[in-house]
Order: sequence, then C-alpha cells, then structure tokens
Amino acid sequence: MKIRENVSLKPYNTFGVEATAPHFVEIHSTEELQQILRQWQGGKPFILGGGSNILLAGEMRRLVIKNSIKEKAITARKGDKAWVSAGGGENWHEFVRWCLEHELGGIENLSLIPGTAGAAPIQNIGAYGCELSEVFHMLEAVELDTGALHSFGREACRFGYRDSIFKQELKGQYCITRVSLELSTAHHQLNTSYGAIRQMLAGQGIGAPTIHDVSRAVVAIRSSKLPDPEVLGNSGSFFKNPELPYRQFEGLQQEYKDMPYYPLDNGGVKLPAGWLIEQAGWKGKRLGDAGCYEKQALVLVNHGKASGRDIFELAQRIQDDVQEKFGIWLEMEVNVV
Ligand code: EPU
Repeated sequence: MKIRENVSLKPYNTFGVEATAPHFVEIHSTEELQQILRQWQGGKPFILGGGSNILLAGEMRRLVIKNSIKEKAITARKGDKAWVSAGGGENWHEFVRWCLEHELGGIENLSLIPGTAGAAPIQNIGAYGCELSEVFHMLEAVELDTGALHSFGREACRFGYRDSIFKQELKGQYCITRVSLELSTAHHQLNTSYGAIRQMLAGQGIGAPTIHDVSRAVVAIRSSKLPDPEVLGNSGSFFKNPELPYRQFEGLQQEYKDMPYYPLDNGGVKLPAGWLIEQAGWKGKRLGDAGCYEKQALVLVNHGKASGRDIFELAQRIQDDVQEKFGIWLEMEVNVV
C-alpha cells in the first residue's frame, strides 16, 4: 500500500476518459484504509470503486483511494434465507455469479451490472424489475473525516430510485467497506414480470425458470442493448428516468399519443428518458467522439478520444433539447467529478 503520484485514471473509469490523479492509493482492507486516512493530511480523499458510474469531467485534485477490499462470505443461514457479505471492492457481477453458484436467489436480475459491491448501494442499482434495496440487509462504511467504522441498516440508507443517503447528505463522506444482503436459499421469488425477460424465457420454451435461467436471460438482454465498456466506453444509463406529476403527463400525452410510461404508486408517472432523447433526435448522434448510443439513447459513449468535458457538454446539449421539446429536465444519474 503506497501512495503513488500522477497516476492516469484512464484504466479506472469505464468511460475510458483521460484524467490524472495527483495522488493515488489502492486499499485492500478496512485497516489499510484507516491507516491511510490517519497518515494523509491533504484534504478529503475521493473513493473510487469500479469507475462505472462516474464521469471525470474536471481536474482531479484529491487523493484517489481505489477500494479493492475483497471478500465473499455466507455469514448466516436460517430457514430459506442466507445472509451474504461482499467486500466493497468486489466486482458486482462476480459476486452475483458466486451467489448463483451457491444457489442463492434475489440478485439474478441484477446480473452483469458493471461496478463494485461497495458502489451498489450508493445509487441503489436496479434493473429488470429489481432493486438492490429489496435484498439489502446492512453495510459497513468508514467515515473519511474520522476513520470511524459505522453500520447502516436499510432505513438509514434512505434508498430511492437510483438514490441513497450516500448520493445526498453523506455524499463523498464515506467509503463503503462491506455490504450484506439477505438472499433466498430455496423457494426463490423470481421476478420475470419485465417484458423482455418474459419474452426471452418464452422464446426458449422455459416454463418454470430457475435463478440461473433468469440470470442468463438478463445477461443476454443487457449484452444485446448495452455497450460493453471494454469495447465502447460508457457508464450505463447517463440520466435518470424522470418522474412527473400526472397533470403534466396528461398534457404531454395529448400531443405524444404513443409515449411509453410507467404509472407510479404516488399517482405520478415515470417516463423512459431513452424515448425522450430519441424523440429529441439524439439517438446514434455524436459530437466529435462523444456519442449517444445507437441502440439505447440513455447511454452516452466514448467513441475513442472524447474527454470527460466533451461527454459532459454532449449531456448538457441533450438536457437542453429535451427541456425545450418536452419541458422536462433530465437529471444526470452518473456522478460527474
Ligand atoms: N426507449 C426508446 N429509445 C431508446 C431507449 C429506450 O424509445 O433509445 C424506450 C422504449 O420504449 C423502451 C423503454 O424506453 O421500452 C425502456 O427502455 P429499457 O428497457 O432499455 O430501460 P430504461 O428505462 O431505458 C432502465 C435503467 C437501466 C436498466 C433498464 C432495465 C434507469 C436510469 N435505467 O433503463 O439501468 O438496465 O431500465 O431495467 O433507470 C443503469 O442504471 O445504468 C441502467 C442501465
């Protein structure tokens, strides 16, 4: 564990943009992290996970701490339930695969999401009808100012749609070192309600799917729609799907009769941002090497030499055009640094 100087962050962000960390260190345990925090006097560090939900758009002036805390364990079993824990630096998808190998259900719909286990609660990762919050048990995190280790239960995390307390009041204050989930060992509650999953399983003639079948279907759907960051730099969905009051939605629906939407429990409506961006004419377009992905307009991509600034500027152009056309402001989901 050594603090290195002037380290390129290009290999550490899935957009593949160039940025330099003036100081960089990789930590492999909670103790190593606490030791670095005691020794470092140069201001609040920046915690880096898998680099799959950040856009490095400005100059990095902080110590970058790469969380590489690894550990996967089944910590308890009771009835049809098991509690598993993952080190904050574990690759999320490898952790999902490990759970599947141990016949543990509950996160199969979250297969192939890029990033680390420690970053998963920050944005409450979700896909295909499931969210991390549904299986979340607790997490441990080190407070960067004091080095103290704290536990957070589900309530304390204040999960919302792609949101948690770690994106709000506690943004940048903690490093998540361990995440614990409550999974099922038998009688798994599968969620195959999402259209694309249902169609894929039906197409394969699978009437009674297992957690493995669902995971395979999710992997196939994601691979067909979302670009592989190893091939084309990206950070998944760049914006959140906006939520509107019903009245505003009604007005829009008069004009756009074929507009897809999802009713919300609170009476409002969520709209797919990908549709809005496509209607605004951005799908498949590019500004230099910064582009809007041709198969899913919600994903911004780096065609090669785009800088973080270029991608940020593209995002702003999209926000402006969607605002002008629909009167809706798209909120960025990716953490812009
Ligand atoms: N659509 C278009 N054009 C596009 C893209 C989408 O018209 O270019 C419309 C279509 O009507 C489509 C609908 O949008 O049916 C929904 O698209 P999709 O199923 O691809 O899902 P999404 O709402 O665009 C969300 C998540 C994804 C997650 C998928 C599947 C957010 C911000 N994104 O995308 O999460 O994988 O649902 O559950 O909620 C991520 O967060 O990085 C991410 C990839």
